[in-house]
Amino acid sequence: MVKTPTRTPVAGRFKGKVALVTGGTNGIGYAIALELLREGANVAVSGLPHDAEGGRAAFAKEGYSPLIIAGDMAEEAFCKKLIDDTVAKYGRLDYLVNNAFSFIAKGLDATRADFHYSFNVGPFGFALMIQLAAPAMRKNGGGAIVNVSSISSWVAQPNRWTYNTAKGAVTQLTRCAALDLAPDNIRVNSISPGWIWTREVDKAAGGDREKFDPIWGQYHMLARMGHPIEMAGPALFLLSDDASFVTGTDLPVDGGYNGIGPEGLGQTSKIAGSR
Ligand SMILES: NC(=O)c1ccc[n+]([C@@H]2O[C@H](COP(=O)([O-])OP(=O)(O)OC[C@H]3O[C@@H](n4cnc5c(N)ncnc54)[C@H](O)[C@@H]3O)[C@@H](O)[C@H]2O)c1
Repeated sequence: MVKTPTRTPVAGRFKGKVALVTGGTNGIGYAIALELLREGANVAVSGLPHDAEGGRAAFAKEGYSPLIIAGDMAEEAFCKKLIDDTVAKYGRLDYLVNNAFSFIAKGLDATRADFHYSFNVGPFGFALMIQLAAPAMRKNGGGAIVNVSSISSWVAQPNRWTYNTAKGAVTQLTRCAALDLAPDNIRVNSISPGWIWTREVDKAAGGDREKFDPIWGQYHMLARMGHPIEMAGPALFLLSDDASFVTGTDLPVDGGYNGIGPEGLGQTSKIAGSR
């Protein structure tokens, strides 16, 4: 039985601050948004229209009612609306978490339209959100941005030209935006999660976590998959003043995925299989 870890929030760390988390109705974005709420921030989240009600119910169960805005990050007008509605509701914007992304995973069969949509939601959407958020952050004397990247930004994986090139672009966007926004005291960083059990992964596993957690878990030094809640601490660290001298960089949150060589797989597969 896979146990979900718990996290103790840093009480009041983000009190009086306002955060916008794209794709915050589900998975990793939801975990980050919930921990920001638990640490005192006012939070707005976006999600695809069919995810909005489920997100609202999940937050309500925890005693929170963040602003939830439904729409598609591929649409420029929606990105503008997200920033405008957040500032209209909470009066300011301090933090942006660019998290919503397209999961189109295609390689030799990828069409130009597949690339267009992947990049439109992904690095183009991230870039536009940063451009739109910066003026609001400048008004507060600064801010911080976390882009949710991936191990897929760093390695080759089969049949993933669309997803991996889009994530690769997020890495360079993070660096370039960090350089250009440093004079405004706006820091820009990314996290690169390993395999995290969210619904896309659950779908791929046909819902059988007991069977597939060890199979995909063995790719990580820790010989297991990650939980969405394990992405929240590192993301909140990068947003917080504890990271005041950290910008333009990536924090792998991948259980050692990126550092393991093929020789290590024998060891991790034994551990994963014995759990
Ligand atoms: N799950 C993993 O193993 C994993 C690994 C590395 C990186 N990531 C990254 O983490 C982020 C979140 O992934 P997740 O696994 O939590 O996904 P998820 O499917 O659980 O949640 C995705 C969220 O994004 C929203 N979303 C998706 N497409 C959107 C669009 N076009 N417009 C607006 N909102 C949209 C959804 O409504 C939802 O709120 C993504 O950037 C993903 O690439 C995930």
